[in-house]
Amino acid sequence: MTGFAHTLAPVIENVGLARGTYRLRVHAPALAQAIRPGQFVMLRLPDSSDPLLGRPFALYDTYLDEHHQPAGIDIVYLVVGKLTGLLAHVHSGDRVALWGPLGNGFPALPALEHLALVAGGIGQTPFLAYLRELLGTRGYGGDAPRRRVDRVSLYYGVRTQELAAGIEDFRTAGATVHLASDDGSLGFKGFVTQLLAQHDAPQHLVGCGPEPMLKALANLAQRWTVPCHLSLETPMACGLGICFSCVTRVRTADGWDYKRVCVEGPIFEAAQLIWE
Ligand SMILES: Cc1cc2nc3c(=O)[nH]c(=O)nc-3n(C[C@H](O)[C@H](O)[C@H](O)COP(=O)(O)OP(=O)(O)OC[C@H]3O[C@@H](n4cnc5c(N)ncnc54)[C@H](O)[C@@H]3O)c2cc1C
Ligand code: FES
Repeated sequence: MTGFAHTLAPVIENVGLARGTYRLRVHAPALAQAIRPGQFVMLRLPDSSDPLLGRPFALYDTYLDEHHQPAGIDIVYLVVGKLTGLLAHVHSGDRVALWGPLGNGFPALPALEHLALVAGGIGQTPFLAYLRELLGTRGYGGDAPRRRVDRVSLYYGVRTQELAAGIEDFRTAGATVHLASDDGSLGFKGFVTQLLAQHDAPQHLVGCGPEPMLKALANLAQRWTVPCHLSLETPMACGLGICFSCVTRVRTADGWDYKRVCVEGPIFEAAQLIWE
């Protein structure tokens, strides 16, 4: 586990991006300096005992102060239940309890010509910082920016147009964006993996989203014989490797083993995962 800290972080803003989807910006300089793309934080509301436990949220990006130093982090979240429902009513000046950075983060990759990020639902959230890191426009965790990939495509699928959040952030950061929706209200009508399959294979795939989408992406990666990493959204209780509520089955040299998504993940090689 990486060294992590607990902080009570002041909220800078909490703005709507799409239906039921918000971007929360919190001031947390130490966290912002340490966190890397693909890592996450646990978040809870300090003045509420229901829910008592924190919830995991990916780093969307860090924001910089006037000296171009990381000053805090952005989280983009979809309201689905208790904590996210309460979070939607948080205002500038309120405080949230955060602990992180947690998890392994995205892997270091060799130099590539073309990488595709594939997101479904709210699965785009870990990809903005990663895109900037890959294109060398931002360094994270104290590293200087360094370009690793010539071209990054984002394939992003939602149920319907009103749920699409952050598309302009990805375009501005340099991704070629391909959109899909289940009902045809935005881009290609159908699943994002069906849209991806119509294009040439990239050299590397990275996915985040609901499990059926991740399974379909893992199958496509196998068919294309392209390496693929997946970020899992498994529900978590502690986020610290203590409770084992987040385990997933992975292949090992001897057969298989349970791995904790909060510590050994949330990013795994697709070929390692055993789907139930
Ligand atoms: C590493 C990681 C990063 C994440 N990053 C983000 C992010 O950036 N933005 C974001 O919006 N969400 C993200 N999630 C999912 C987020 O943690 C859940 O949406 C959140 O815990 C819901 O909390 P709640 O109290 O609002 O809902 P609850 O009241 O706990 O649950 C509401 C409903 O959602 C279901 N549920 C809860 N968590 C999950 C889950 N992880 N997957 C599927 N169903 C779930 C419950 O079974 C229940 O039906 C991430 C999850 C993980 C593991
Ligand atoms: S959430 Fe407790 S061990 Fe992973």
